[in-house]
Amino acid sequence: MLKIGVAQADFKLADREANLQIIRRLLEEAARAGIDALVLPELANSGYNFESLEQARSVAETASDGPYVSLLRDWSSTGKLVVGGLCELAGETLFNSAVVYADGRLETVYRKAHLFANERNFFKPGSEKPPVFAWHGQKFGLMICFDWFFPEMARSLALRGAQIILHPANLVLPWCQKAMLTRSLENRVFTATANRTGIDRDLAFSGLSQITSPIGELLVQADGMSDEVVFAEVDLNKADNKWVTKQNDLFQCRRPELYDDLLVKQEK
Ligand code: ACM
Repeated sequence: MLKIGVAQADFKLADREANLQIIRRLLEEAARAGIDALVLPELANSGYNFESLEQARSVAETASDGPYVSLLRDWSSTGKLVVGGLCELAGETLFNSAVVYADGRLETVYRKAHLFANERNFFKPGSEKPPVFAWHGQKFGLMICFDWFFPEMARSLALRGAQIILHPANLVLPWCQKAMLTRSLENRVFTATANRTGIDRDLAFSGLSQITSPIGELLVQADGMSDEVVFAEVDLNKADNKWVTKQNDLFQCRRPELYDDLLVKQEK
């Protein structure tokens, strides 16, 4: 059994020090709760709704070095895993990324593939598949916020063996929390969505961070406004059971030869 946690808070736009303080508090709370694997929201080091590229750049840091990722590395060094959304500076380029630190080292970096609305003014979209990685004998997948709207992402993670999808988010549309129940069910995986609360300029974030099960259950959900960490104790191996009925194994029943149009990008 693993204790999976999702943390939410009202991060402050372009205020590095305030966000570091919030993150320290959330990490302390997660440690007190005995959480093994923790998800922090998207862009937790920076806030979300930037006014300019310069503002985004002023709070960006690299995936391997900086005050924010140092907190994550240190927290994970006692046999734990943490995923955090990162406003990432890589050379001259900014990415909306998620970093995974596990057992005191950088496990993987994912750069958001599906940028939402104004994000395209600041970030370059990632060009790599969302990762699946092993940790302590279990398999974890990773995607960021608006990736949820593209069910191919969750399916790809599940087909590559992910038992749980870790999902840092800054949700502004009203549908994701409910849709993640379906992402769970249709892929028979756990999901852990860590969402933001509060307001950045004209955008409000919905909180309601949650963990769902492979049969589409809501295992735990935070409220819409508090800074808090909620968690569920789960057996991730349950996600390996893909039997929907005695005659229907989810993956064996797929008909990929009928879905080949999924591999073609539509022209406008
Ligand atoms: C979003 O992708 N942050 C809405």
